[in-house]
Amino acid sequence: MLSDSDKKLVVSMLPQVPLFASMDKKALNTVANSAGKKTYKSGEAIAKEGDKALSFFLIMEGNVEVRRGKRVLATLGKGQFFGEMALLDEQPRSADVIATSDTTCVLLTSWAFAGVMAGNPDISKVIIKELVRRLRETDKTLAE
Ligand code: CMP
Repeated sequence: MLSDSDKKLVVSMLPQVPLFASMDKKALNTVANSAGKKTYKSGEAIAKEGDKALSFFLIMEGNVEVRRGKRVLATLGKGQFFGEMALLDEQPRSADVIATSDTTCVLLTSWAFAGVMAGNPDISKVIIKELVRRLRETDKTLAE
C-alpha cells in the first residue's frame, strides 16, 4: 500500500506509461489505490524464472534485461511493462528479469492486474499487441 504522497506520485506517473494512456483520472486513481512502488539497484533480480508470480511491473525509470540463463531475450525500459505472462497463464515466471541500472517500478498485484484487464478492453488490446511484438522479436532472433 502506498503513502498519500507516493500515491500522488504514481497517479502523476501512470499517464506517462503508454499502456495506460487511454485511462481517465478516476480509473487511474483506482489503479493507484492498489499499486506499490519499488526501486531496484543495478544488478538486482526483480523476478526469477520459476518463481510464483504475485505482481505486474511498469517501469517508471531505468532499464531491465529479460534473461534465460545467460541469454538475453529482451531489454525493456521506461514506460514498458513485464511480468504479465505468469499472471495471464497462472504459470511460474518464464524468465529472470534483472535491473541493468537503478530501476523504479510501479507494481500491481495479480488481482489488480486482472481487474485492469477485465475493465479496460483498450488496455487488454495493448497488452496483446505487445505480446505479439515480443513474439515476433523472439522469432527474428531465433532465425538469425
Ligand atoms: P513473466 O513470465 O511473468 O516473468 C518474466 C517476464 O519477462 C515475462 O512475464 C515477460 O514480461 C518477460 N518476457 C519473457 N519472455 C520474453 C521475451 N521473449 N521478450 C520480451 N519479454 C519477455
